[in-house]
Amino acid sequence: MNRIPTHVAIIMDGNGRWAKARLLPRGEGHRQGMNRMIDLADHAFAVGVKVLTVYALSTENLSRPKEELDGLFSLFRKYFKQNVRRLLDKGIRVRIIGDVSALPQDIRALIAESEAESEGNTAGCINIALNYGARQEIVRAVNRAVASGRPVTAESLSALLYTGGQPDPDLIIRTGKEKRISNFLLYQAAYAELYFSDVMFPDFSDAEFDKALADFAGRKRRFGKTDEQVEKEEEKQ
Ligand code: IPE
Ligand code: IPE
Ligand code: MG
Repeated sequence: MNRIPTHVAIIMDGNGRWAKARLLPRGEGHRQGMNRMIDLADHAFAVGVKVLTVYALSTENLSRPKEELDGLFSLFRKYFKQNVRRLLDKGIRVRIIGDVSALPQDIRALIAESEAESEGNTAGCINIALNYGARQEIVRAVNRAVASGRPVTAESLSALLYTGGQPDPDLIIRTGKEKRISNFLLYQAAYAELYFSDVMFPDFSDAEFDKALADFAGRKRRFGKTDEQVEKEEEKQ
């Protein structure tokens, strides 16, 4: 049986504390975190993950001090031009989830370019969550449903989310010690397995990721059914 999760989502937390512990500016933590994200994506796709969703900036993070946000935007600029390209060249599709309308115009242009260029890529998909909030995503989907005039079903609402058309996350990892969801994929996470790591994201190595995968492989997912029902279904496969 294939125990590699199809869709892994990561709350990449702990950049600031990683920097603080080293007496470095927070921005250095974000830079190291971004480097780690690109390398970790390479690794995740190499081991067979098909969809990787990374939480890079939440809606709520937009209220951080201007200096920190400007630093993050500079990093996004640089990374979309250089590092994200590495993923594109490997046949990975890039999708941005979140409200990009609040981002600087030049970053929106870079995002649109990466998305358009990688549209036909099929080796894997990376969803980069930027100015993303799950409540805002659900409200947007509901408003679209209301505008269509048709009642929604669980499936049709799911299709209206930023992740529409993609499988729900099988595994959600949060680094950086906190044990909370922080407005991430609330609808999609209904049956995700959760994994919390004390490691700050810049130190979340490929080996730490593999530990999360091994933990996932040992979980029993029941989706509300009994063990006996699940075992019968597994026998049939
Ligand atoms: C996560 O790291 C990255 C972003 C939210 C942009 P933090 O910046 O939240 O790092 P900590 O939690 O302060 O350590
Ligand atoms: C969640 O981290 C958002 C990202 C990792 C992008 P936060 O640092 O914003 O979460 P809280 O504020 O500790 O809940
Ligand atoms: Mg944090």
